[in-house]
Amino acid sequence: MSRRRILVTSALPYANGPLHLGHLAGAYIPADIYVRYQRMKGHDVLFICGTDEHGVPITLTAEKEGVSPREIVDRYHRNIRDSFERLGISFDNFSGTARPIHHKTSQDIFLRLHEKGYLEEREVTQLECPKCKRALPDRFVEGFCPNCGADGARGDQCDTCGKWLEPSVLIEPRCKICGTTPAAAKTRHWFFKLKSMQPRLEEWIAEHPHWKDNVRNFCRGWFKAGLEDRPITRDIPWGVPVPLPGAEGKVLYVWFDAPIGYISSTREWAEQQGDPDRWRDYWLDSRTEMVHFIGKDNIVFHAIVFPATLMAHGDFILASEIPANEFLNLEGRQLSTSRHWAVWVQDYLDDFAPDPLRYALARNAPETRDTDFTWKDFQARNNNELADILGNFINRSLSFVHRFFNGKIPAPGDLGEVDQRMVKIIEDTGARVGKHLEVFAVRDALRELLASAKEGNRYFDEKQPWATRKTDLADCGTTLNLSLQLVRVLTATMQPFLPFSAPRAWSMLGLEGNVAGVPWDEIGRELFPAGHALGEIGILFSKIEDEAIEEQVRKLRQASAQAQLPTDEKQAPEITIDEFAQFDLKVGEIAAADVIEGRKDLLRLSVNLGTRTAEIIARTSGNASPDALPGRQVVVVANVGAEIEGLPSDGLVLTIDGPDGTVFVEPDSGVANGTGIK
Ligand code: MF3
Ligand code: ZN
Repeated sequence: MSRRRILVTSALPYANGPLHLGHLAGAYIPADIYVRYQRMKGHDVLFICGTDEHGVPITLTAEKEGVSPREIVDRYHRNIRDSFERLGISFDNFSGTARPIHHKTSQDIFLRLHEKGYLEEREVTQLECPKCKRALPDRFVEGFCPNCGADGARGDQCDTCGKWLEPSVLIEPRCKICGTTPAAAKTRHWFFKLKSMQPRLEEWIAEHPHWKDNVRNFCRGWFKAGLEDRPITRDIPWGVPVPLPGAEGKVLYVWFDAPIGYISSTREWAEQQGDPDRWRDYWLDSRTEMVHFIGKDNIVFHAIVFPATLMAHGDFILASEIPANEFLNLEGRQLSTSRHWAVWVQDYLDDFAPDPLRYALARNAPETRDTDFTWKDFQARNNNELADILGNFINRSLSFVHRFFNGKIPAPGDLGEVDQRMVKIIEDTGARVGKHLEVFAVRDALRELLASAKEGNRYFDEKQPWATRKTDLADCGTTLNLSLQLVRVLTATMQPFLPFSAPRAWSMLGLEGNVAGVPWDEIGRELFPAGHALGEIGILFSKIEDEAIEEQVRKLRQASAQAQLPTDEKQAPEITIDEFAQFDLKVGEIAAADVIEGRKDLLRLSVNLGTRTAEIIARTSGNASPDALPGRQVVVVANVGAEIEGLPSDGLVLTIDGPDGTVFVEPDSGVANGTGIK
């Protein structure tokens, strides 16, 4: 087969916050696996990414923190790049769209479109905040969605129904910064004449009937509604300046310039290679296959807007493949950074090795539907699959040769039927896994890999080398020879998925060089000669304990509970010591506890205060089981008579809203009931 040239891109993450697992599952882990595989196939692969450094969210974060957008962008560029590196995402270049080379590239493309008549300057009405004295494009304005009615729809899009919006169509719009109702004002913007391009785009999509349903259905929907001309400039200070006279203060719309980042990142790479024109080999040669890895929220930009830009420009290739992935949920809920329902990649990497995460996310990749990441599932994948199946087969094969054959691979004897079956697996595994990777099916690819490791264990069990070692040494040699050949195959095959573990296994096998340099098509062909000496062995995949997993779940719930605290809760007015001294705080013991009928969240407690028993109503989150309470000591404010939801309460019990519900404040060792608290 001839050498293909494949340009692979992963969506440029906004330089606006750290990476979380949701990012990884769609656009980065599957892309990296694909890229590492195609490199082993011997193709000319270039893997391009960078941070998306413009757009309103970045400006908003900068304003919230009182720093410049540049500072935010630099901070998160470094942070994101670092997370990718630690995770083994093997970009050939990781650029950023605030760099001069990107500004220049985007401006040139804009100008070409302008010259060719694809852009048109039009007078429009836009929203402006009279108080902040600024234009309110995109996410600077919020309101009700005219399509679905949801609140919190933004000037560019409604997150609830997914509709692409214009600020002027929002109902009851308000300024995102100060909440003021905006006023309408006239301005001029450049529109990209998308409408006229619909026939060409439709034709192009139709040329790719094998594309994923999500991409094709999305496009069909857009075409059916009819493409509209869109403004691609904005009146904001942060972005790529519009390179036309009379456009001072205007910048390109972030979604116009961001995908052009793929081109500028390639140019930057070429410069770093000392061959500044080399980017042309990728972008201007129709033999290049371009593959965009993205999440489903980016489909319209990669299947319609960016291809339209490239078509209008005229020189560039178009995408060959758009493997768009669905979303990853977390513990059954939608990921949300604002609600702190997320697992940050940097935090994960502080606690665990990268490969188990790569494995769990690839095994459960949201290829055709949303999938759920749970810590329990992560643990199970690591312990039951990586450690107990793959790791176990590698470990037992290596250990056996070390113990009984002096660390040297024995020669095979005659092959029986069971051995023949094993030979087939040794020969086929690479091709079977590769077949799925060719079509971006990383889940199926991993399933095949695991199936081969299972076969290895089954073979080992069936052949019982521990018995034949004493009864039929030649057969024992056959078993271990073939087992080690399969270990070698598995090691090379797992390299794209597990790039930290595979090199370790490679050196345990006593092999030189880099496992990533094994030609994929040679997997299962290049075999160990008898007598090959193994390297030093160690544990490849360690098990993850329950405690470590519980700790992660606790961390997640705590962060999310923290985020839900109303901010003014911490700002009670100051009081004096004398005022505090008026509280009669006492230790009491719960003598009886009942749920108030029909009110799961209210408890009636009889509390023994030493000299008397108080009947107290306690409000809970509904989680308390009254049976567990009698006998427990609590803290009571004994000198308030209160009424709670209409029920008289002879004092108050101190409680805390914990991440899993209400908990009671309790002395940490027994004291007499009625003891005062200071
Ligand atoms: N920053 C965008 C996001 O996170 C993705 C941009 S992809 C690009 O949704 F290629 F267009 F840059
Ligand atoms: Zn305002």
